[in-house]
Amino acid sequence: GTVRRPTNFICTVSDERGEDVLYGGVPLTEVIEKNYSLGEVIGLLWLKCKLPKWASNFIEMCLKIVADHGPCVSGAHNAIVTARAGKDLISSLVSGLLTIGPRFGGAIDGAAYYFRKFYNENKTSRQMVDEMKAAGILIPGIGHRIKSVRNPDKRVELLKNYAKTQFPQTRYLNFALEVEKITTAKRGNLILNVDGCIGVLFVDMLNSCGFSSEEIDEIIEAGTLNAIFVLGRSMGIIAHVLDQKRLKSGLYRHPWDDVLFRVEPPKVIGG
Ligand code: ACO
Ligand code: LMR
Repeated sequence: GTVRRPTNFICTVSDERGEDVLYGGVPLTEVIEKNYSLGEVIGLLWLKCKLPKWASNFIEMCLKIVADHGPCVSGAHNAIVTARAGKDLISSLVSGLLTIGPRFGGAIDGAAYYFRKFYNENKTSRQMVDEMKAAGILIPGIGHRIKSVRNPDKRVELLKNYAKTQFPQTRYLNFALEVEKITTAKRGNLILNVDGCIGVLFVDMLNSCGFSSEEIDEIIEAGTLNAIFVLGRSMGIIAHVLDQKRLKSGLYRHPWDDVLFRVEPPKVIGG
């Protein structure tokens, strides 16, 4: 019989060979005619499924909620400085995106991983806090530079309210809120932050949608949840770059009086 030549690539995302490109098996015409939301398109392309409305709305809500948080945060700041150095839109956007990581915006998968792990191991919130401290790991999804118990993060309130009214269950969120009680008793700014809230709610969503434990492991390990921040925040970073270009802002140089210069004569070593 015929022997099929082995292919160099496998693709399970989309297929553009026909008249209509398929997004995870759904023709683009259907996506447009049935007015799929961005959350539903992400469901098709990233999660390979048609999500229920409450879940695709949640994803879309996350994108809107993380779209921007002002000019002073790492991502926007880097992009603004880059744009003011005369670089193009894509370079400036990428320089902003490169700041997304474990401390800023990229704690979502980590939060999902640790809260899920401790909850699934039937550990208490106290055990989670103590064991993470003993391991010398800051809990991803806990803590914020400016938001605190006294200055709550509206974004987190919006997410919690949505989940409490629309999700079938929120057991990982509930666990994270127990952890938050302990961390905020220590310091007011150790709240469940927007990354943490998205992380635990994603796990609640995936569980309620019937994803298996192995599938959830894979989704988290692949960085899918941080990708929500990357995609959403790109909207805001692009806005800051366009803003600087519109304003024709010149080269930025950081003021000397904001740097503590501590240059010392070199140590003489050897000889
Ligand atoms: N878990 C446990 N303890 C914490 C955490 C945490 N996540 N964050 C801070 N602490 C403790 C520190 O151990 C320290 O305790 P000590 O005084 O006993 O030494 C104290 O709080 C102060 O720590 P700092 O790092 O100075 O806190 P800061 O307010 O500057 O940090 C930050 C804020 C960077 C967000 C930090 O809390 C953190 O790294 N959190 C985890 C990562 C995370 O979730 N990032 C996403 C933030 S939201 C976003 O970017 C969209
Ligand atoms: C953000 O969304 O960029 C933040 O929560 C970080 C910050 O310091 O505001």
